[in-house]
Amino acid sequence: MAPTEPIRATRGVRDLLPAARAPWQVAERAAAVVAERFGYQEIETPIIEPAELVERGVGDETDVVSKELYKFQDPGRRWLVLRPEGTVGVVRAYFEGNLNQGPQPARLYTQGPMFRHDRPQAGRYRQFYQFDVEAIGDPSPAVDAEVIELAWTWLRELGLGRVSLQVNSIGDRNCRPAYREALLAYYRPLRADLCQDCQRRLESNPLRLLDCKEDAPHREAAPKITDYLCEPCRLAFAQVTAQLDAAEIPYTVNPRLVRGLDYYTRTAFEFWHESLSGAQNALGGGGRYDGLAEALGWPATPAVGFAAGLDRVVLMLAEEGIEIVAPPAAEVLVLTDGEGLDVAAGRVGRVAREVLPTAVDYTVRSLKAKMRSANRTGARWVLLMNAEEAGRQVVQLKEMASSEQVEVAWSELGQELENRALALEEMQP
Ligand code: HAM
Repeated sequence: MAPTEPIRATRGVRDLLPAARAPWQVAERAAAVVAERFGYQEIETPIIEPAELVERGVGDETDVVSKELYKFQDPGRRWLVLRPEGTVGVVRAYFEGNLNQGPQPARLYTQGPMFRHDRPQAGRYRQFYQFDVEAIGDPSPAVDAEVIELAWTWLRELGLGRVSLQVNSIGDRNCRPAYREALLAYYRPLRADLCQDCQRRLESNPLRLLDCKEDAPHREAAPKITDYLCEPCRLAFAQVTAQLDAAEIPYTVNPRLVRGLDYYTRTAFEFWHESLSGAQNALGGGGRYDGLAEALGWPATPAVGFAAGLDRVVLMLAEEGIEIVAPPAAEVLVLTDGEGLDVAAGRVGRVAREVLPTAVDYTVRSLKAKMRSANRTGARWVLLMNAEEAGRQVVQLKEMASSEQVEVAWSELGQELENRALALEEMQP
Protein backbone atom coordinates (compact mmCIF):
# COMPACT_ATOMS: atom_id res chain seq x y z
CA MET A 1 0.00 0.00 0.00
CA ALA A 2 1.27 3.47 -0.84
CA PRO A 3 2.30 5.19 2.40
CA THR A 4 0.06 8.17 1.59
CA GLU A 5 -3.15 6.15 1.28
CA PRO A 6 -5.38 6.63 4.34
CA ILE A 7 -5.86 3.49 6.39
CA ARG A 8 -9.49 2.46 6.70
CA ALA A 9 -11.44 -0.01 8.82
CA THR A 10 -11.44 -3.66 7.79
CA ARG A 11 -14.36 -5.14 5.84
CA GLY A 12 -17.56 -6.04 7.67
CA VAL A 13 -16.95 -3.87 10.74
CA ARG A 14 -18.36 -0.44 11.56
CA ASP A 15 -17.64 2.57 13.68
CA LEU A 16 -20.61 3.62 15.76
CA LEU A 17 -20.24 7.38 15.81
CA PRO A 18 -21.77 9.55 18.56
CA ALA A 19 -24.80 10.54 16.48
CA ALA A 20 -25.61 6.86 15.81
CA ARG A 21 -25.06 5.71 19.38
CA ALA A 22 -28.32 7.15 20.83
CA PRO A 23 -30.59 4.18 19.97
CA TRP A 24 -27.84 1.78 21.01
CA GLN A 25 -27.64 3.42 24.40
CA VAL A 26 -31.39 3.16 24.80
CA ALA A 27 -31.38 -0.54 23.78
CA GLU A 28 -28.40 -1.39 26.01
CA ARG A 29 -29.75 0.44 29.03
CA ALA A 30 -33.20 -1.11 28.64
CA ALA A 31 -31.54 -4.54 28.37
CA ALA A 32 -29.73 -4.06 31.67
CA VAL A 33 -32.82 -2.64 33.39
CA VAL A 34 -35.10 -5.47 32.24
CA ALA A 35 -32.52 -8.19 33.01
CA GLU A 36 -32.04 -6.82 36.51
CA ARG A 37 -35.79 -6.57 36.99
CA PHE A 38 -35.87 -10.34 36.41
CA GLY A 39 -33.07 -10.88 38.94
CA TYR A 40 -30.21 -11.35 36.45
CA GLN A 41 -26.74 -10.06 37.31
CA GLU A 42 -24.15 -8.69 34.94
CA ILE A 43 -21.11 -10.76 34.01
CA GLU A 44 -18.21 -9.90 31.68
CA THR A 45 -16.19 -12.62 30.01
CA PRO A 46 -13.14 -12.25 27.74
CA ILE A 47 -13.44 -11.61 24.03
CA ILE A 48 -10.62 -14.10 23.40
CA GLU A 49 -11.23 -17.69 24.44
CA PRO A 50 -9.38 -20.98 23.87
CA ALA A 51 -10.30 -22.26 20.40
CA GLU A 52 -11.20 -25.64 21.85
CA LEU A 53 -13.89 -24.14 24.10
CA VAL A 54 -15.80 -22.74 21.13
CA GLU A 55 -15.10 -25.63 18.77
CA ARG A 56 -16.34 -28.23 21.22
CA GLY A 57 -19.12 -26.10 22.69
CA VAL A 58 -20.68 -24.68 19.55
CA GLY A 59 -19.81 -27.74 17.43
CA ASP A 60 -17.19 -28.42 14.71
CA GLU A 61 -19.86 -28.98 12.07
CA THR A 62 -21.64 -25.66 12.51
CA ASP A 63 -21.07 -22.79 10.07
CA VAL A 64 -20.03 -20.62 13.00
CA VAL A 65 -17.07 -22.90 13.74
CA SER A 66 -16.26 -24.46 10.35
CA LYS A 67 -16.48 -21.28 8.25
CA GLU A 68 -16.77 -18.15 10.33
CA LEU A 69 -14.32 -18.42 13.19
CA TYR A 70 -11.61 -15.80 13.75
CA LYS A 71 -8.95 -18.22 14.92
CA PHE A 72 -5.29 -17.45 15.48
CA GLN A 73 -2.18 -18.47 17.39
CA ASP A 74 -0.98 -16.00 19.98
CA PRO A 75 2.75 -15.34 20.52
CA GLY A 76 2.73 -18.23 23.03
CA ARG A 77 1.48 -20.50 20.20
CA ARG A 78 -1.87 -21.13 21.89
CA TRP A 79 -4.86 -21.40 19.58
CA LEU A 80 -7.36 -18.69 20.44
CA VAL A 81 -10.56 -17.38 18.90
CA LEU A 82 -12.44 -14.10 18.96
CA ARG A 83 -15.69 -15.25 20.55
CA PRO A 84 -18.44 -15.82 17.97
CA GLU A 85 -21.11 -15.96 20.72
CA GLY A 86 -21.33 -15.59 24.48
CA THR A 87 -22.81 -18.78 25.87
CA VAL A 88 -19.77 -21.06 26.03
CA GLY A 89 -17.71 -18.35 27.75
CA VAL A 90 -20.42 -17.69 30.33
CA VAL A 91 -20.73 -21.43 31.07
CA ARG A 92 -16.94 -21.69 31.47
CA ALA A 93 -16.97 -18.68 33.83
CA TYR A 94 -19.85 -20.16 35.83
CA PHE A 95 -17.69 -23.15 36.77
CA GLU A 96 -14.32 -21.40 36.99
CA GLY A 97 -15.85 -18.71 39.19
CA ASN A 98 -17.64 -21.29 41.39
CA LEU A 99 -21.05 -19.86 40.60
CA ASN A 100 -22.17 -23.51 40.58
CA GLN A 101 -21.66 -23.44 44.39
CA GLY A 102 -24.00 -20.46 44.80
CA PRO A 103 -27.78 -20.18 44.55
CA GLN A 104 -29.19 -21.96 41.50
CA PRO A 105 -29.90 -21.11 38.83
CA ALA A 106 -27.19 -18.49 38.36
CA ARG A 107 -29.03 -15.77 36.47
CA LEU A 108 -26.53 -13.88 34.31
CA TYR A 109 -26.51 -11.33 31.52
CA THR A 110 -23.84 -9.69 29.42
CA GLN A 111 -23.52 -7.36 26.44
CA GLY A 112 -20.64 -6.99 24.05
CA PRO A 113 -19.02 -7.63 20.68
CA MET A 114 -19.01 -11.01 18.93
CA PHE A 115 -17.11 -11.96 15.77
CA ARG A 116 -18.12 -14.10 12.80
CA HIS A 117 -16.34 -14.05 9.45
CA ASP A 118 -19.47 -14.20 7.29
CA ARG A 119 -20.27 -12.33 4.07
CA PRO A 120 -21.19 -8.82 5.23
CA GLN A 121 -24.56 -7.34 4.30
CA ALA A 122 -27.28 -5.23 5.92
CA GLY A 123 -27.93 -6.73 9.36
CA ARG A 124 -24.91 -9.00 9.16
CA TYR A 125 -21.52 -7.84 10.29
CA ARG A 126 -18.22 -9.45 11.15
CA GLN A 127 -18.17 -7.64 14.46
CA PHE A 128 -21.66 -7.42 15.90
CA TYR A 129 -23.09 -6.94 19.38
CA GLN A 130 -25.22 -9.21 21.50
CA PHE A 131 -27.35 -8.86 24.59
CA ASP A 132 -26.99 -12.31 26.14
CA VAL A 133 -28.91 -13.87 29.01
CA GLU A 134 -28.13 -17.22 30.63
CA ALA A 135 -29.85 -19.11 33.49
CA ILE A 136 -27.53 -21.94 34.52
CA GLY A 137 -28.32 -24.74 36.98
CA ASP A 138 -32.08 -25.31 36.79
CA PRO A 139 -33.83 -27.92 34.61
CA SER A 140 -37.30 -26.40 35.08
CA PRO A 141 -39.14 -25.55 31.82
CA ALA A 142 -40.52 -22.52 33.67
CA VAL A 143 -37.03 -21.00 33.44
CA ASP A 144 -37.11 -21.45 29.64
CA ALA A 145 -40.31 -19.41 29.62
CA GLU A 146 -38.77 -16.87 32.01
CA VAL A 147 -35.90 -16.23 29.60
CA ILE A 148 -38.35 -15.84 26.72
CA GLU A 149 -40.48 -13.46 28.80
CA LEU A 150 -37.43 -11.37 29.68
CA ALA A 151 -36.50 -11.05 26.00
CA TRP A 152 -40.10 -10.32 25.01
CA THR A 153 -40.46 -7.64 27.69
CA TRP A 154 -37.28 -5.94 26.52
CA LEU A 155 -38.36 -5.87 22.85
CA ARG A 156 -41.78 -4.58 23.90
CA GLU A 157 -40.37 -1.84 26.10
CA LEU A 158 -38.22 -0.68 23.21
CA GLY A 159 -41.47 -0.28 21.30
CA LEU A 160 -40.87 -2.93 18.64
CA GLY A 161 -44.19 -4.23 17.39
CA ARG A 162 -43.66 -6.32 14.27
CA VAL A 163 -41.97 -9.18 16.08
CA SER A 164 -43.10 -12.79 16.16
CA LEU A 165 -41.95 -15.44 18.58
CA GLN A 166 -41.27 -18.90 17.12
CA VAL A 167 -40.91 -21.81 19.54
CA ASN A 168 -40.07 -25.46 19.12
CA SER A 169 -38.65 -28.41 20.98
CA ILE A 170 -35.77 -30.19 19.26
CA GLY A 171 -35.84 -33.14 21.65
CA ASP A 172 -32.98 -34.56 23.67
CA ARG A 173 -30.44 -37.35 23.41
CA ASN A 174 -33.18 -39.92 24.01
CA CYS A 175 -35.60 -38.98 21.26
CA ARG A 176 -33.50 -37.05 18.76
CA PRO A 177 -31.72 -40.15 17.32
CA ALA A 178 -35.04 -41.58 16.07
CA TYR A 179 -35.96 -38.24 14.52
CA ARG A 180 -32.52 -38.03 12.94
CA GLU A 181 -33.08 -41.42 11.32
CA ALA A 182 -36.46 -40.31 10.01
CA LEU A 183 -34.90 -37.19 8.49
CA LEU A 184 -32.11 -39.24 6.92
CA ALA A 185 -34.64 -41.64 5.43
CA TYR A 186 -36.54 -38.67 3.98
CA TYR A 187 -33.59 -36.68 2.63
CA ARG A 188 -31.29 -39.45 1.34
CA PRO A 189 -33.34 -40.09 -1.83
CA LEU A 190 -33.37 -36.29 -2.45
CA ARG A 191 -29.62 -35.99 -2.10
CA ALA A 192 -28.89 -35.05 -5.72
CA ASP A 193 -31.37 -32.15 -5.46
CA LEU A 194 -29.83 -30.66 -2.34
CA CYS A 195 -27.44 -27.73 -2.22
CA GLN A 196 -23.72 -28.42 -1.76
CA ASP A 197 -23.76 -27.54 1.92
CA CYS A 198 -26.70 -29.81 2.63
CA GLN A 199 -25.19 -32.71 0.72
CA ARG A 200 -22.19 -32.39 3.02
CA ARG A 201 -24.31 -31.93 6.16
CA LEU A 202 -26.79 -34.68 5.38
CA GLU A 203 -25.01 -37.47 7.24
CA SER A 204 -23.35 -35.39 9.95
CA ASN A 205 -26.19 -33.05 10.97
CA PRO A 206 -29.45 -33.64 9.08
CA LEU A 207 -31.39 -31.29 11.40
CA ARG A 208 -29.57 -28.35 9.86
CA LEU A 209 -31.20 -29.15 6.51
CA LEU A 210 -34.45 -27.75 7.89
CA ASP A 211 -32.75 -24.38 8.20
CA CYS A 212 -31.47 -24.21 4.62
CA LYS A 213 -33.03 -21.43 2.55
CA GLU A 214 -32.06 -23.06 -0.76
CA ASP A 215 -33.67 -26.39 0.04
CA ALA A 216 -36.81 -24.91 1.58
CA PRO A 217 -39.14 -26.60 -0.97
CA HIS A 218 -38.25 -30.01 0.48
CA ARG A 219 -38.90 -28.88 4.02
CA GLU A 220 -42.68 -28.90 3.90
CA ALA A 221 -42.95 -32.66 3.55
CA ALA A 222 -40.08 -33.47 5.94
CA PRO A 223 -40.87 -35.33 9.17
CA LYS A 224 -41.70 -33.06 12.12
CA ILE A 225 -39.73 -33.27 15.34
CA THR A 226 -42.91 -32.74 17.34
CA ASP A 227 -44.10 -36.19 16.16
CA TYR A 228 -40.97 -37.81 17.61
CA LEU A 229 -40.58 -36.21 21.05
CA CYS A 230 -40.23 -38.58 24.02
CA GLU A 231 -42.67 -38.17 26.89
CA PRO A 232 -40.37 -36.04 29.14
CA CYS A 233 -39.58 -33.70 26.21
CA ARG A 234 -43.25 -33.44 25.25
CA LEU A 235 -44.18 -32.65 28.82
CA ALA A 236 -41.43 -30.05 29.19
CA PHE A 237 -42.53 -28.31 26.00
CA ALA A 238 -46.15 -28.26 27.20
CA GLN A 239 -44.96 -26.59 30.41
CA VAL A 240 -43.07 -23.94 28.46
CA THR A 241 -46.08 -23.07 26.30
CA ALA A 242 -48.39 -23.09 29.33
CA GLN A 243 -46.15 -20.49 30.98
CA LEU A 244 -46.14 -18.38 27.82
CA ASP A 245 -49.93 -18.58 27.70
CA ALA A 246 -50.13 -17.46 31.33
CA ALA A 247 -47.82 -14.54 30.55
CA GLU A 248 -50.03 -13.69 27.54
CA ILE A 249 -47.08 -13.83 25.17
CA PRO A 250 -48.18 -14.70 21.64
CA TYR A 251 -46.11 -17.37 19.89
CA THR A 252 -46.10 -19.73 16.94
CA VAL A 253 -45.15 -23.36 17.43
CA ASN A 254 -42.79 -23.90 14.52
CA PRO A 255 -41.77 -27.58 14.22
CA ARG A 256 -39.22 -26.66 11.52
CA LEU A 257 -37.29 -24.30 13.75
CA VAL A 258 -33.76 -25.47 14.37
CA ARG A 259 -30.83 -23.42 15.59
CA GLY A 260 -27.41 -22.87 14.05
CA LEU A 261 -25.42 -23.98 17.08
CA ASP A 262 -25.07 -27.62 18.16
CA TYR A 263 -25.54 -27.39 21.91
CA TYR A 264 -29.32 -27.12 22.09
CA THR A 265 -31.69 -29.65 23.64
CA ARG A 266 -35.48 -29.36 24.00
CA THR A 267 -36.68 -25.75 23.86
CA ALA A 268 -35.48 -23.68 20.90
CA PHE A 269 -36.90 -20.26 20.04
CA GLU A 270 -36.34 -17.21 17.88
CA PHE A 271 -37.74 -13.72 17.59
CA TRP A 272 -38.34 -12.79 13.97
CA HIS A 273 -38.97 -9.32 12.64
CA GLU A 274 -41.24 -8.81 9.62
CA SER A 275 -38.76 -6.46 7.97
CA LEU A 276 -35.72 -8.66 8.36
CA SER A 277 -35.55 -11.04 5.47
CA GLY A 278 -33.78 -14.16 4.35
CA ALA A 279 -31.03 -15.53 6.51
CA GLN A 280 -31.07 -12.38 8.65
CA ASN A 281 -34.64 -12.61 9.90
CA ALA A 282 -33.84 -13.30 13.55
CA LEU A 283 -33.55 -10.46 16.02
CA GLY A 284 -32.50 -13.02 18.56
CA GLY A 285 -32.79 -16.62 19.61
CA GLY A 286 -31.90 -19.17 22.19
CA GLY A 287 -32.95 -22.28 23.96
CA ARG A 288 -32.05 -24.95 26.47
CA TYR A 289 -28.59 -26.48 26.38
CA ASP A 290 -28.48 -29.20 29.05
CA GLY A 291 -25.56 -31.06 27.42
CA LEU A 292 -23.14 -28.17 26.98
CA ALA A 293 -21.40 -28.14 30.38
CA GLU A 294 -20.56 -31.82 30.11
CA ALA A 295 -19.29 -31.43 26.54
CA LEU A 296 -16.87 -28.82 27.90
CA GLY A 297 -15.58 -31.21 30.58
CA TRP A 298 -17.58 -29.79 33.50
CA PRO A 299 -20.27 -31.61 35.54
CA ALA A 300 -23.56 -32.08 33.67
CA THR A 301 -25.65 -28.97 34.38
CA PRO A 302 -29.00 -27.93 32.90
CA ALA A 303 -29.19 -24.41 31.47
CA VAL A 304 -31.14 -22.14 29.15
CA GLY A 305 -30.40 -18.80 27.52
CA PHE A 306 -31.00 -16.26 24.82
CA ALA A 307 -29.08 -13.72 22.78
CA ALA A 308 -30.27 -10.82 20.66
CA GLY A 309 -28.32 -9.04 17.96
CA LEU A 310 -28.24 -5.41 19.05
CA ASP A 311 -27.28 -4.30 15.53
CA ARG A 312 -30.51 -5.75 14.18
CA VAL A 313 -32.62 -4.44 17.06
CA VAL A 314 -31.30 -0.92 16.41
CA LEU A 315 -31.92 -1.35 12.67
CA MET A 316 -35.54 -2.35 13.35
CA LEU A 317 -36.12 0.58 15.73
CA ALA A 318 -35.38 2.84 12.76
CA GLU A 319 -37.43 0.63 10.43
CA GLU A 320 -40.48 0.96 12.71
CA GLY A 321 -40.01 4.72 12.86
CA ILE A 322 -39.07 4.72 16.55
CA GLU A 323 -36.97 7.84 16.57
CA ILE A 324 -34.33 8.25 19.22
CA VAL A 325 -32.56 11.57 18.94
CA ALA A 326 -29.02 11.88 20.24
CA PRO A 327 -28.88 14.31 23.15
CA PRO A 328 -26.44 17.22 22.69
CA ALA A 329 -22.92 16.47 23.85
CA ALA A 330 -23.39 19.20 26.45
CA GLU A 331 -26.37 21.30 27.51
CA VAL A 332 -24.13 24.20 28.45
CA LEU A 333 -21.17 25.65 26.59
CA VAL A 334 -18.71 28.11 28.12
CA LEU A 335 -17.29 30.63 25.64
CA THR A 336 -14.76 33.38 26.14
CA ASP A 337 -14.26 36.55 24.12
CA GLY A 338 -10.54 37.26 24.16
CA GLU A 339 -7.43 35.39 25.20
CA GLY A 340 -5.93 34.50 28.58
CA LEU A 341 -9.29 33.52 30.04
CA ASP A 342 -8.81 29.74 30.21
CA VAL A 343 -8.58 29.58 34.01
CA ALA A 344 -11.73 31.67 34.44
CA ALA A 345 -13.55 29.60 31.80
CA GLY A 346 -12.46 26.40 33.56
CA ARG A 347 -13.85 27.73 36.84
CA VAL A 348 -17.20 28.62 35.31
CA GLY A 349 -17.31 25.20 33.64
CA ARG A 350 -16.71 23.48 36.99
CA VAL A 351 -19.64 25.39 38.58
CA ALA A 352 -22.03 24.67 35.70
CA ARG A 353 -21.04 20.98 35.56
CA GLU A 354 -22.38 20.52 39.09
CA VAL A 355 -25.83 21.02 37.57
CA LEU A 356 -25.73 20.16 33.84
CA PRO A 357 -23.40 18.52 31.31
CA THR A 358 -21.04 21.35 30.36
CA ALA A 359 -18.25 21.75 27.83
CA VAL A 360 -15.72 24.58 27.65
CA ASP A 361 -14.52 25.97 24.33
CA TYR A 362 -10.77 26.62 24.72
CA THR A 363 -10.09 27.17 21.03
CA VAL A 364 -8.43 30.38 19.91
CA ARG A 365 -10.75 31.95 17.33
CA SER A 366 -13.19 34.81 16.97
CA LEU A 367 -16.31 34.99 19.13
CA LYS A 368 -18.39 34.76 15.97
CA ALA A 369 -16.74 31.48 14.98
CA LYS A 370 -17.23 30.12 18.50
CA MET A 371 -20.93 31.06 18.48
CA ARG A 372 -21.40 29.36 15.12
CA SER A 373 -19.89 26.19 16.46
CA ALA A 374 -21.99 26.47 19.66
CA ASN A 375 -25.09 26.48 17.49
CA ARG A 376 -24.03 23.27 15.80
CA THR A 377 -23.37 21.38 19.04
CA GLY A 378 -27.01 21.80 20.07
CA ALA A 379 -26.12 23.28 23.47
CA ARG A 380 -29.14 24.87 25.12
CA TRP A 381 -27.29 27.62 26.99
CA VAL A 382 -24.05 29.48 26.39
CA LEU A 383 -22.09 31.17 29.15
CA LEU A 384 -20.23 34.11 27.61
CA MET A 385 -17.46 36.07 29.23
CA ASN A 386 -14.82 38.69 28.32
CA ALA A 387 -11.88 39.88 30.42
CA GLU A 388 -13.85 42.67 32.06
CA GLU A 389 -16.67 40.28 33.05
CA ALA A 390 -14.20 37.67 34.28
CA GLY A 391 -12.71 40.40 36.50
CA ARG A 392 -16.17 41.05 38.00
CA GLN A 393 -16.82 37.28 38.28
CA VAL A 394 -19.95 37.35 36.13
CA VAL A 395 -21.05 35.68 32.88
CA GLN A 396 -23.65 36.45 30.24
CA LEU A 397 -26.09 33.52 30.22
CA LYS A 398 -27.58 33.20 26.77
CA GLU A 399 -30.45 30.90 25.90
CA MET A 400 -29.74 29.73 22.37
CA ALA A 401 -33.35 29.12 21.28
CA SER A 402 -34.63 32.60 22.22
CA SER A 403 -31.31 34.52 22.14
CA GLU A 404 -32.42 35.98 25.49
CA GLN A 405 -29.37 37.01 27.57
CA VAL A 406 -28.93 37.92 31.25
CA GLU A 407 -25.94 38.63 33.44
CA VAL A 408 -25.37 36.13 36.27
CA ALA A 409 -22.73 36.21 39.03
CA TRP A 410 -20.57 33.07 39.26
CA SER A 411 -21.82 32.61 42.82
CA GLU A 412 -25.45 32.49 41.59
CA LEU A 413 -24.78 30.44 38.47
CA GLY A 414 -25.47 26.99 39.97
CA GLN A 415 -28.87 28.06 41.29
CA GLU A 416 -29.78 29.86 38.06
CA LEU A 417 -29.00 26.80 35.90
CA GLU A 418 -30.87 24.55 38.28
CA ASN A 419 -33.99 26.75 38.05
CA ARG A 420 -33.82 26.74 34.27
CA ALA A 421 -33.31 22.99 34.05
CA LEU A 422 -36.30 22.44 36.36
CA ALA A 423 -38.51 24.82 34.38
CA LEU A 424 -37.61 22.95 31.23
CA GLU A 425 -38.43 19.58 32.78
CA GLU A 426 -41.84 20.84 33.85
CA MET A 427 -42.60 21.99 30.33
CA GLN A 428 -41.91 18.53 28.92
CA PRO A 429 -44.93 16.20 28.57
P1 HAM B 1 -27.39 -16.98 17.50
O1 HAM B 1 -28.72 -17.29 16.95
O2 HAM B 1 -26.21 -17.54 16.79
O3 HAM B 1 -27.41 -17.47 19.00
O4 HAM B 1 -27.20 -15.41 17.59
C1 HAM B 1 -28.16 -14.60 18.26
C2 HAM B 1 -28.43 -13.34 17.48
O5 HAM B 1 -27.22 -12.64 17.21
C3 HAM B 1 -29.03 -13.57 16.10
O6 HAM B 1 -30.42 -13.80 16.18
C4 HAM B 1 -28.72 -12.25 15.42
O7 HAM B 1 -29.65 -11.25 15.76
C5 HAM B 1 -27.37 -11.89 16.02
N1 HAM B 1 -26.30 -12.20 15.06
C6 HAM B 1 -25.71 -13.38 14.83
N2 HAM B 1 -24.77 -13.27 13.86
C7 HAM B 1 -24.78 -11.97 13.47
C8 HAM B 1 -24.03 -11.20 12.51
N3 HAM B 1 -23.06 -11.74 11.78
N4 HAM B 1 -24.32 -9.88 12.39
C9 HAM B 1 -25.29 -9.31 13.14
N5 HAM B 1 -26.00 -9.97 14.07
C10 HAM B 1 -25.76 -11.29 14.23
C11 HAM B 1 -26.36 -17.36 19.86
O8 HAM B 1 -25.37 -16.70 19.65
C12 HAM B 1 -26.56 -18.10 21.17
N6 HAM B 1 -25.35 -17.93 21.99
C13 HAM B 1 -27.81 -17.63 21.88
C14 HAM B 1 -28.00 -18.33 23.19
C15 HAM B 1 -27.73 -17.86 24.42
N7 HAM B 1 -28.44 -19.58 23.34
C16 HAM B 1 -28.44 -19.89 24.61
N8 HAM B 1 -27.99 -18.86 25.30
